[in-house]
Amino acid sequence: MEETFVVESPDVTYGPDFIQAGYKYQTTRVSRDGGNIKVHPISAHFTFRTERRVPRLGVMLVGWGGNNGSTVTAAVLANRLHLSWMTKTGKKEANYYGSLLQAATVSLGSDDHGQDTHVPFRALLPMVSPNDIVFDGWDISSLNLAEAMKRAQVLDWALQEQLRPHMEQLQPRPSVYIPKFIAANQESRADNLILGSRAQQLEQIRRDIREFRASSGVDKVIVLWTANTECFCDVVPGLNDTAENLLHAIERDLEVSPSTLFAVASILEGCAYLNGAPQNTFVPGAIELAMQRRVFIGGDDFKSGQTKIKSVLVDFLISAGLKTVSIVSYNHLGNNDGQNLSAPKQFHSKEVSKSNVVDDMVQSNPLLYGPGEGPDHCVVIRYVPYVGDSKRALDEYTSEIMLGGTNTIVLHNTCEDSLLASPIILDLVILTELCQRITFCTDSDPHFQNFHSVLSILSFLCKAPMVPPGTPVVNALFRQRSCIENILRACVGLAPQNHMLLEHKME
Ligand code: NAI
Repeated sequence: MEETFVVESPDVTYGPDFIQAGYKYQTTRVSRDGGNIKVHPISAHFTFRTERRVPRLGVMLVGWGGNNGSTVTAAVLANRLHLSWMTKTGKKEANYYGSLLQAATVSLGSDDHGQDTHVPFRALLPMVSPNDIVFDGWDISSLNLAEAMKRAQVLDWALQEQLRPHMEQLQPRPSVYIPKFIAANQESRADNLILGSRAQQLEQIRRDIREFRASSGVDKVIVLWTANTECFCDVVPGLNDTAENLLHAIERDLEVSPSTLFAVASILEGCAYLNGAPQNTFVPGAIELAMQRRVFIGGDDFKSGQTKIKSVLVDFLISAGLKTVSIVSYNHLGNNDGQNLSAPKQFHSKEVSKSNVVDDMVQSNPLLYGPGEGPDHCVVIRYVPYVGDSKRALDEYTSEIMLGGTNTIVLHNTCEDSLLASPIILDLVILTELCQRITFCTDSDPHFQNFHSVLSILSFLCKAPMVPPGTPVVNALFRQRSCIENILRACVGLAPQNHMLLEHKME
């Protein structure tokens, strides 16, 4: 039996509907006066309110029949059914390894014996259990989910055999296919399409969302793009630069990418929309529409393997005072994602998303880097069919160390890509759903509000985190993790985790 916890504090109340917590937020504001930096400590009183009732959550995946879509669906079924299966190395059991919320813990503090007490992340606040998520979705390929799982070649056969009867009943809905946005080599799988004008396609997606909500009985729907990486679209004044222009462009059947069409449809249905691929789905008009409708959007691009390590390693190197001067990342993979990325325009989207991940760390250290200076950063992706979903990532990091020395670190990482991405998909939707139940106010503005529509708390899970316009982008992994942990702690009236352990440093 898992332990539960309660915060005993005059600042925290557990009502029948809400957990309400008073919270002192301490931060600083900095100003410059000539060569002097002035730092002003600021303290503000917040009240956080979290709705306790956990809804029944439906998740609609765009690209449901892909490697990620089929794997995450299989993972939830395998856990829900408590499946186990034999492999040549012994018996395996379903789990959620790789999920921050399901498989990682947070410390609540030390007990009387000086021992840290840890609880699962998911225990911090009432959250949807992944086992209860109802999946649905779209794919341009008509294969049912059992066939899609087989095509993906990710899961052990003995597990696939047990899942087949459950998965073969799941059928992706037809989707929007505009050939120029994904690689030409994808054409052969496009046999399940929504035809008609952009406006008709938008209406069909909206009907699909409504139909799913009604027929499945879920309380809430979140839509997530895990379909192929698209090429970037042009941001054109008059076309997609404002919400109004974007809606007009769809009305007039002008060029709008499939992913933006899905984003608009979900926002208009009041459903959060998350982007697991690198393309610029969120053109300014889509962001404005989300803000007008007060709907959450988040992305871009799952941060699963190579980039996750990069956002730890480079943070470590630069924050330790070592000057990283060259980062070279090779990837080869043989799944359909790799085939799509073998086309130059789609590769370019990925290259951009993978390349910006060290910017904040470089900018944080003007002792090492002058203005505009940064490491050489090269990203190569190659399609090698034989390795399938078992992606290889080879990285070389070179840093300048003391007195003219250099240090080179080389990594080789091999694993099934979709087994890393699937738990991230679950974290994205569960965290987004939780944020929909959190409101807060301050003493100076007693009106309860939601987080900003651009849900930057998801940064930990994204390669190229989207943040509200004009706010800082954080790529460093453990800063991103602390942001989630400390905001969830604030919701139960706990101070941020500061690791000072002063109580253990006294005589
Ligand atoms: P996949 O190629 O196996 O799956 C994509 C699916 O999307 C395919 O079944 C395809 O038929 C479908 N599709 C393409 N265009 C569509 C449209 N307009 N509407 C509906 N369905 C459409 O790829 P995989 O490995 O599942 O990856 C999915 C996405 O996630 C890719 O964009 C990839 O770059 C991104 N990603 C994956 C990561 C991983 O670790 N697996 C990490 C980061 C991002």
